[in-house]
Amino acid sequence: MDQQQRRVRYLRVSLTDRCNYRCTYCMPEEGIEHRHRDELLSLEEVVRLCAVFARWGVERVRLTGGEPTVRKGLVSLVTALRQLPTPKGKLEVVMTTNGERLEALAESLARAGLSGLTVSIDSMRPDRFRQITRRGALARVLAGIERARAVGLGTIKLNTVALRGFNDDELGEITEYAWTRDMVPRFIELMPMAAGRLFVPGELMPASEIRSAIATFAEVAELVPDEARGIAGLGPATYWRVPGGRFAGRRLGIIAAMTENFCNTCNRLRVSASGQLHACLARDEAGDLRGALRSGDPGALEERVRAVLGAKRERHGFALDGTGGPRKAMISIGG
Ligand code: 5AD
Ligand code: SF4
Repeated sequence: MDQQQRRVRYLRVSLTDRCNYRCTYCMPEEGIEHRHRDELLSLEEVVRLCAVFARWGVERVRLTGGEPTVRKGLVSLVTALRQLPTPKGKLEVVMTTNGERLEALAESLARAGLSGLTVSIDSMRPDRFRQITRRGALARVLAGIERARAVGLGTIKLNTVALRGFNDDELGEITEYAWTRDMVPRFIELMPMAAGRLFVPGELMPASEIRSAIATFAEVAELVPDEARGIAGLGPATYWRVPGGRFAGRRLGIIAAMTENFCNTCNRLRVSASGQLHACLARDEAGDLRGALRSGDPGALEERVRAVLGAKRERHGFALDGTGGPRKAMISIGG
């Protein structure tokens, strides 16, 4: 494998382009056009694909969606993926979820070997939570998080899209909820996916403002950069630490795609539910791995992956006015 492929230690695999929520910044109210069932990779194909990437050195797979828990067979998929050998041991499996079905699933997922979870939560107020997700019930998600903690589902992170005029007055509250439960909160800048159709420029809360809001909440002058990172190495989130006071040592992550570009360190690769390999979240270009997998030609897959990596552009085209984003919506790729 060439230099670029050796850098890839972490793969995100979407299991479905469907979701039981319809977050306003992620999906148009009328929904999106879903892929037909046989356009999706079968779970057996997902395992075959991950086996190849694991052999190449991918150590961790993150299951995403849409919402991964709406896909039937999720628990057995986790069990199968956990058996896959990597150069360093066995493949690690983590998941990003909206938490709606977590209470019921947490225990079987833990038993299947899932070792980390990111739960999206944009508000701690039930009415706001309902408003942003158009479907969700906060109490259910919080119960899911408690269950996940109780069964020891590894590291739990919270993802919050910071939105001015929506949740900018409760970032401290969300952070406190996370910190008092040993979870790491992560704040995400709003990105103009779906050709900017769901993007309101005034709602974008820049990372610098997010940091000062949290510093104020934690009663410190400023947050300091935290160099500690996970096995994934360089990733899109930068981590910050509270240097003193009541919350000394606590960390938070910020994904500042809009105001503090991180494209030069990005090593993420994403496979959509239909088996398209995307080298960039913010670009529509993709390579068809499903065709390569189904062709039965072992060389075809490697060739396709090389082509996608080779064509990866320097950086995304997001602009602060909401232009320059991809046509695809976040729901179709899973963040
Ligand atoms: N901008 C930023 N983050 C988004 N997410 C979904 N759509 C957007 C967007 N337009 C987030 C979700 C979830 C993660 C996978 O991506 O809130 O936490
Ligand atoms: Fe569903 Fe996540 Fe998109 Fe919300 S952000 S609609 S939970 S996929």
